Amino acid sequence: MHDIETKQDLEILLSKFYTKLFSDETISYIFTDVAKINLETHLPKIIDFWNLSLFGKGDYSNNVMKIHLDLNQEEKLNEKHFKTWLNTFNLTVDESFSGKNSEIIKTKALSIATVMQIKMHKLS
Ligand code: HEM
Repeated sequence: MHDIETKQDLEILLSKFYTKLFSDETISYIFTDVAKINLETHLPKIIDFWNLSLFGKGDYSNNVMKIHLDLNQEEKLNEKHFKTWLNTFNLTVDESFSGKNSEIIKTKALSIATVMQIKMHKLS
């Protein structure tokens, strides 16, 4: 197994991750029924997000925190949703990649998810 090194690696990782997430009905409805997005439109954005967060590359400029705080107003994102999201993310990374960036991406995901939850808690 190799590390996450390129944007193509991110494409592989994230496509696997969202396929898993979309097949879990305890969380997929938030994408399909609440935000009403599909994978084809969502994937390029999150690939760009991680390309910037992990590699410092590209020009992703959306406000991820605000997008999720707004989403939380529509449908509460609870602890169980975050656990599912993070477990699925970590599992997908560990299934396909190993190395320094693979550890960094999991740590970044955890810290972003933690900040999201803190901000949501303050708002609710
Ligand atoms: C409970 C956990 C989460 C749920 C249910 C969730 C759900 C969603 C949904 C429904 C969207 C689409 C919003 C829209 O376009 O209207 C979205 C976008 C996105 N999410 Fe999450 N999310 C979660 C956690 C996270 C975390 C922890 C991260 C980052 C580490 C993240 C990164 C992103 C990114 C990058 C986008 C794309 C934003 C854009 O359009 O540019 N999400 N999420």
